[in-house]
Amino acid sequence: MTLELTPEQQGVFDAIEHTREHLFVTGRAGTGKSTLLNHLSWHTGKQLVICAPTGVAALNVGGQTIHSLFKLPIGIIGNQPIEQNREVKKLLNTIDTLVIDEISMVSADLLDAIDRSLRQARQRKAEAFGGVQVVMFGDPFQLAPVPPSDPQERAWMKDNYRSMWFFDAHVWREAELRIHTLREIHRQHDDEFRSLLTAVRYGKVTEPMANRLNEVGARPAPHDGIITLASKNATVSRINARELDRLPGRSMTAAAEVMGDFGNARTFPADEELELKVGAQVMFLRNDTDNRWVNGSVGVVSRIDKTVHVEIDDEEFEVEPIAWEKLKYEYDPVTKELTREVVGEFHQFPLRLAWAVTIHKSQGKTYDRAVVDLGARAFSPGQTYVALSRIRSLEGLYLSRPLQPRDIFVDEDVMRFMHEVAEAQRAAAALQS
Ligand SMILES: Nc1ncnc2c1ncn2[C@@H]1O[C@H](COP(=O)(O)OP(=O)(O)OP(=O)(O)O)[C@@H](O)[C@H]1O
Ligand SMILES: [Mg+2]
Repeated sequence: MTLELTPEQQGVFDAIEHTREHLFVTGRAGTGKSTLLNHLSWHTGKQLVICAPTGVAALNVGGQTIHSLFKLPIGIIGNQPIEQNREVKKLLNTIDTLVIDEISMVSADLLDAIDRSLRQARQRKAEAFGGVQVVMFGDPFQLAPVPPSDPQERAWMKDNYRSMWFFDAHVWREAELRIHTLREIHRQHDDEFRSLLTAVRYGKVTEPMANRLNEVGARPAPHDGIITLASKNATVSRINARELDRLPGRSMTAAAEVMGDFGNARTFPADEELELKVGAQVMFLRNDTDNRWVNGSVGVVSRIDKTVHVEIDDEEFEVEPIAWEKLKYEYDPVTKELTREVVGEFHQFPLRLAWAVTIHKSQGKTYDRAVVDLGARAFSPGQTYVALSRIRSLEGLYLSRPLQPRDIFVDEDVMRFMHEVAEAQRAAAALQS
């Protein structure tokens, strides 16, 4: 990967290389945050480890998920003890700099757990992040952390944090965060599309702007394997079923085995009835213990017998069903303690069809063209912005229905934080002049 950094990207690179400050590198979608991060991984002189909140985001930058890197349990971590084996301890002791991409999806709770893990492993309890430099990349106008589905966990978050966002993590009471903003957009080259996207980002879309997007996007999508970015899981499933149907041959269905209390089908980690055919495009849902694939890898089903064979980049792998564990937290508002136990198991092949993906899974990606399907309405701030900003040009934009004003809104905590950032940057600039 040899990309020439722009002067502003180079400036941030130098700040990371030559200081030990905690940095937040932000900027609009497509300003090259992940590109800079990739460049950093090749050209840094520091011992540096890269991670991201989701498997797909980690794949995008050649990193690991935060949970697998730190061996953290799923769900809220709170103030539970963090278990660390020798390997994790050793790894966390060797690093100078921890790099996190897509920080907008990292919750305050998770960032504090990272802080605690590092202090513990490095036996530097009094120092934020155990003395490690933390460099975070992301755009808070994109996707927010997913709130816990469990009401007790939500109550715990509310009692303990001002918001779910990383910038409200407790560690920032002890550590200082420096902010760098990249301003030049590289994903889109057309000034008109760039300014339309910027308006969507800030929730300031005028009627003529909306009309323009809708005129362009309102046309039938081609039926040639174009990817759909949908807000809802149900839409993703419907499109994938349709594409599966189009493939010749017989389909095979693998039924999940569900044990104990695993909640309802909506919260299952994979399809209860997974239907596959030879030729189907699939995505992996979990990291492989033998590193043959990671969560987010895409392949094509090449053979189905007792197990499923999937080809990734011309190599065929045999995939077997795996187990997911459901953990349950109990929150006691009086003692403010969370406790945890395994209450259910879910066994299934770690695969899903991948002709359509959720907008959530598309964060960080670049597509030449895509169909954007927001369903009845966008249901989280940043969702519409993430979807539209994946696409390189207006020519590649297809909308399943016209955008409505209610599809475009901005999170209040993000407004508060970004306002503070802007103030601080103005004050710093005034000091310099
Ligand atoms: N210095 C550069 N020169 C040429 N192309 C670049 C440069 N920096 C980034 N790009 C290109 O711009 C596109 C978007 O870059 P990238 O994915 O790094 O942006 P991002 O800021 O991480 O976006 P997002 O917020 O959506 O994750 C990519 O196709 C990338 O190759
Ligand atoms: Mg990115």
